[in-house]
Amino acid sequence: MRAVDMILKKKRGEAMSQPEIEALINGFVKGDVPDYQMAAWMMAVCFQGMNGEETAALTDVMVKSGETADLSTLSGIKVDKHSTGGVGDTTTLVIAPLVAACGGTVAKMSGRGLGHTGGTLDKLESVPGVSIELTMEQFLSIVRDTGLCVMGQTADLVPADKLMYALRDVTGTVSSIPLIASSVMSKKIASGADAIVLDVKTGSGAFMQTLPEARALAKTMVDIGSRMGRKTVAVITDMNQPLGMAVGNGLEVKEAIELLSGKLPKTDPLYEVSMLLASHMLVLSELASDEKEAKAKLAAALESGAGLRKLKAMLAALGGDTSCIDDPESLCAVREKRDVYLDEEGYIAAMQAEKIGVAAQLLGAGRATKADSIDPAVGLVMHKRQGMQVSKAEPVAALYINDATHVEDAIAALKAAITVSAEQPNAAPMVYDVITAAE
Ligand code: URA
Ligand code: CA
Repeated sequence: MRAVDMILKKKRGEAMSQPEIEALINGFVKGDVPDYQMAAWMMAVCFQGMNGEETAALTDVMVKSGETADLSTLSGIKVDKHSTGGVGDTTTLVIAPLVAACGGTVAKMSGRGLGHTGGTLDKLESVPGVSIELTMEQFLSIVRDTGLCVMGQTADLVPADKLMYALRDVTGTVSSIPLIASSVMSKKIASGADAIVLDVKTGSGAFMQTLPEARALAKTMVDIGSRMGRKTVAVITDMNQPLGMAVGNGLEVKEAIELLSGKLPKTDPLYEVSMLLASHMLVLSELASDEKEAKAKLAAALESGAGLRKLKAMLAALGGDTSCIDDPESLCAVREKRDVYLDEEGYIAAMQAEKIGVAAQLLGAGRATKADSIDPAVGLVMHKRQGMQVSKAEPVAALYINDATHVEDAIAALKAAITVSAEQPNAAPMVYDVITAAE
């Protein structure tokens, strides 16, 4: 079938067969199908969607476009976790050590941050000496020794996604549930895990701004996982405000160390979301029979310090200086700290996580383009969350500054991110739903 016929078929809203999808994607990766035809087809997908069978077939073809990681030499169920991207979302650095401390095997390929969201690799590199450019052998050996390792995606993992994403980015075709779901799941499946826990964010700082959209994306990803033989659970969590209080690479590692040191209250949102995600990882790993048992094991691993020791072991294996475990403040040594005050009094009715991420990015904590470098020590720490009272005399946040060039813009973005009301609003929930394969 010619590419133009497949575009017409999708334009009419008809389902494509597996051989058609395979021919189109392989043709595009080889360069036989030009960008304009691929873009037209993806735009048709944006309007017409794809059914479950088509979406899984697309994911499978994408996985097979490149190399896949072979984790078969590791014993036990290999479990991975993925977040659709958030601000102040440092759960991986909390969860991977806790799951490993409970006997789990976490072999995770991670990405870098872009725009207002952070990436685990950048956070890890804020620890002096850490290198995440590992060979597959080094990666597997660290997982064998410590139970966990995070590395960068290998260059040849899902080349179809790299080519499709670059085209989607410039043709207005990013926001399509089957295209996002196949993009995320192809990378997770190619990374080799047996079980996958997804953290699907919803709210102002997320791809999926509304709960119905987030639920539809979560269901589509869980369905792909099930069809492809991977145990998959999705948790839908809030991204109307940063998850943790810290936004910035070293600052977020510091917050993860503090959490694993038992210094954060159990009501802390980062604690709550981390424990929920980790509990599903333990259940899928068959190391706990249900969420309750899993949470008890995780709490014990936190209290005994076993989770913190796992983080230290991974940092050491990656060549990192582990003195930050006892002195996390060393990760965010900056020239200047500046408090930010609001011009209004009352309660924080709402926050826009994206603008807070942009404020941190303006201070040098994030990249506007892939080529930008980042400063590991800078960023901001929020003192207030949605629902809390604020006065003009109390700072809402502290900025960590090395280069003051864009500080005024960062302060403006931060203030614009916060809406104050006279009446006390209800506190927004952190977790909305859990989607399992049975639903
Ligand atoms: N993240 C991805 O990896 N792919 C998408 O399409 C969107 C977000
Ligand atoms: Ca549910």
